[in-house]
Amino acid sequence: MSTAVSDRLTFRCPDDWHVHLRDGDTLALVARQTARQFARAIVMPNLAPPVTNVAAARAYRQRILDSVPVGLAFTPLMTAYLTDRIDPEEIVRGHAEGVFTACKLYPAGATTNAAAGVTDVRHIDGVLERMQAIGMPLLVHGEVVDDDVDVFDREAVFIEKVLAPMLARFPELKVVLEHITTREAVDFVAGSGPGVAATITAHHLAFNRNAMFVGGIRPHYYCLPVAKREHHRRALRAAATSGNPKFFLGTDTAPHAVSDKENSCGCAGIFSAPVALESYATTFEEEQALERLEGFASEYGPRFYGLPLNEGTVTLIRRPNVVPEVIEAGSLRIRPFRAGETMTWAFEERG
Ligand code: NCD
Ligand code: ZN
Repeated sequence: MSTAVSDRLTFRCPDDWHVHLRDGDTLALVARQTARQFARAIVMPNLAPPVTNVAAARAYRQRILDSVPVGLAFTPLMTAYLTDRIDPEEIVRGHAEGVFTACKLYPAGATTNAAAGVTDVRHIDGVLERMQAIGMPLLVHGEVVDDDVDVFDREAVFIEKVLAPMLARFPELKVVLEHITTREAVDFVAGSGPGVAATITAHHLAFNRNAMFVGGIRPHYYCLPVAKREHHRRALRAAATSGNPKFFLGTDTAPHAVSDKENSCGCAGIFSAPVALESYATTFEEEQALERLEGFASEYGPRFYGLPLNEGTVTLIRRPNVVPEVIEAGSLRIRPFRAGETMTWAFEERG
């Protein structure tokens, strides 16, 4: 049970059900940002090359553990990147050996490092059948990539044309529709059976698509799926704060170097890990639902994944919290979500 005295918020230690930790120098810089606030995280496999086999996932998991500061208990939960030619036996073996927690479906070309993704979901029906049988969750980047579908409609079209038919073929498959951005996604997930859930990011709760165009083009507000109209944001806020266990926390923290964002072809992704809990707490407080933050952040995710709840706690303090303009190491510079803003909550500790 969370306790909120006006200036202090303590609740069960949360997990982040969708993160990009990258590799190499970026991993060394960002792993600590996630491990600081979260006990576990579902780690996306869209490295270059992608994580498509058990050996690669095992090695990546070790590199992540080596990047987390000593004394911070953090469990990376690994995912397999599905391709048209993925071997179902490799997926099943990885799950049985405790390496793969879930599989990730990127429609080919949908987002960063998704070129090797799936060109037609029917190509992976064999894997989905095995996953359904063993209860292994499928995590979905829910956007079609057709040039003739408007960028802002790609999630809704995916739900109708790809996801609904897929669930008709595999009604018992556990599915997380990741980083949802639309009213259509909220309605679809709420109306589906208990095996279908969704993650919601801090940034899609915080701003609508106007944020990308305030006085000029704002590359640090660009992510995929792209932010939508205000009525969609309102639907996300209602879902996140409703207490419905189908909706839980997944930041989709997606760091890119400043030079790759402020570019004639800027990368999609928002680095929200440094202010993740502060940002969710702000939304929940604005919606007068702070008492529901713990369920969303710390209970519904583990229950969906069939994992135990974390034992420890986290504490946020109400005080002015100026977000750094940049987080850097050596020549690598990454601009966090809400850079330069003064937030009303500050992360204090994991206890
Ligand atoms: C992610 C990334 O950069 O890897 N970008 C993003 O905008 N969310 C990929 C993804 O999750 O779509
Ligand atoms: Zn992502």
